[in-house]
Amino acid sequence: MATVQIDDMITVGSLAETLMIPVTKLITELMKNGVMATVNERIDFETAQIIVQELGLDMVLERKAETEDIVRKKPKASDKAESRAPVVAVMGHVDHGKTSLLDAIRNAEVAKKEAGGITQHISAYQILHNKRKITFLDTPGHEAFAALREHGAQLTDVAIIVIAADDGIKPQTVEAIRFAKKAGVKILVAITKIDKESANVEKIKQQLSEQDLLVEDWGGDTIVQTVSSKTAQGIPELLDMVLLIADVEELKADTDTEAHGLVIESHMEKGRGSVAVALVEVGTLLPGDFVVAGTSYAKVRNLESTTGQALKKAGPSTPVIITGFKELPEFGDSFFVVKNEKEARKQIQAAISNADSSRRSGKMNSSELLRIINRSNELSELLILIKADVQGSLTSVTDSLQTLGTDEVAVRIISSGVGAISENDVHVAHTAGAIIYGFNTELNSSIKHIASRDKVSVRLFRVIYELIDDVKKELEALLQPKIVENETGQLDVKGVFKTTKSEVICGGQVTSGKIIMPAQVRIIRSGEVLATAELSGIKRGPQEAKEVFEGDMCGLSLKTENKVQLFENDKLIFFTTETVSRTL
Ligand code: GTP
Ligand code: MG
Repeated sequence: MATVQIDDMITVGSLAETLMIPVTKLITELMKNGVMATVNERIDFETAQIIVQELGLDMVLERKAETEDIVRKKPKASDKAESRAPVVAVMGHVDHGKTSLLDAIRNAEVAKKEAGGITQHISAYQILHNKRKITFLDTPGHEAFAALREHGAQLTDVAIIVIAADDGIKPQTVEAIRFAKKAGVKILVAITKIDKESANVEKIKQQLSEQDLLVEDWGGDTIVQTVSSKTAQGIPELLDMVLLIADVEELKADTDTEAHGLVIESHMEKGRGSVAVALVEVGTLLPGDFVVAGTSYAKVRNLESTTGQALKKAGPSTPVIITGFKELPEFGDSFFVVKNEKEARKQIQAAISNADSSRRSGKMNSSELLRIINRSNELSELLILIKADVQGSLTSVTDSLQTLGTDEVAVRIISSGVGAISENDVHVAHTAGAIIYGFNTELNSSIKHIASRDKVSVRLFRVIYELIDDVKKELEALLQPKIVENETGQLDVKGVFKTTKSEVICGGQVTSGKIIMPAQVRIIRSGEVLATAELSGIKRGPQEAKEVFEGDMCGLSLKTENKVQLFENDKLIFFTTETVSRTL
């Protein structure tokens, strides 16, 4: 029996992936056990264990040891540590106004520029308030980005939970609160859109109390600030609160040491190559430093802020742009400065062999699992190759697509990566018979030409739902159409005139509905189906007829596959069939 390790809490989607079963099957099983959970919702270890038993899978779940990742421990500061800017994540339900709030804070215009108005990847900015720095992370709201949002919470000191005053607490607000609590960050609630007429602040305070967040005027200690991003009302006060929390928390970090921190975004950019946004946690990053992240390193040539200003140095809590990585580091990768290029190479070699061995063991595991779980042979797969602009959105897209399958159809991502669609992608897709999906990425005209020559379908999207909908449609096309029978009428046999190997001629009375050509016939005797046949002719009296109705007497000829001996009082049921395409 195989042993599989999972986290204490796991999303339904990743559990299905781990168990290598369709996510719908898992959701159904959960429902049978009274747990209503969607793909991105988390269930605990005990629930997962019960489900594995219920499903009769030949494996044992084991709780993964708490990794430091679950609650990222803030680095310990020495006596020489200096106070640092608070890192603030703005989290909440989709469209509740996170980006607008950040814009109001920065007086910038990011939300208007975003495709579909949805933040597609995390970004970071630093602002000044009362001459003090505050670092903000904008985390996306849509549930497809749950994983990203969780990372957002782990990076931060303060989580501003944004709740639209005209909408109230929604599932993703609850999730954001849960992430923030789990990550042990301070929570500050911003009730926004209070300029709207339908705003109802009291209702939200009530709802907060249901989430164990008792606001101050209700006798609790949850800080709430009402704001409007339209009128900027309440925004200075909100920033005051952030600084107040920072003071109480005494946020400090050493500056006089080599920098390390986390990669929070990475993407390819024309003319610049790989671009990574990283948050310095400890130490000071300097131009000329060698930085290792993931399985790659870069020499920091020009140190830049996320708004593109050249920096002489970047201390703790500063988001910076680092270019020049040969391979894009991933969102959530740690970065650290090493002494020189030689040391950088050595670190990477170690990182690569680590990654290899975990990949190798991962593979062995999955084939082991494959043998255990007999997946249906009738599974049709939709082969897909995905390219996206940044690692974060790539993860979101692939995660969302993995959840689309059923027992019959599944998405198989044959390859995925960050950057523009390349000639090689087209070759790979051509050989495999895959569709290429590009998310926020480009297809230049020469590659477009090759794709159309090779008849490789390339589809570009800027909004994640639209991409997912398209894949859904493709999957639906793979589903075997359903054959639906429609009964048209019934007849009682009154006499049999002729019976051969392949034909019966009989007469009878229509007892319900009508009999119309063409039709299939089911022959019933004493309530049991004797045979099926095809209607090949109708006669009313001596005349050929197209159709006969309830009450009519008629003669019929039926085509049969084998000889069928009919008797008086046999019942005939007539039906037509149609094929109906199915939806997921
Ligand atoms: P995602 O990134 O998709 O999760 O959305 P978001 O939370 O960043 O929301 P966004 O800032 O894009 O705002 C959503 C909508 O609400 C936009 O149409 C904004 O103009 C509107 N909005 C945001 N804040 C306010 C506000 O304070 N008052 C009013 N009247 N409208 C607002
Ligand atoms: Mg946004």
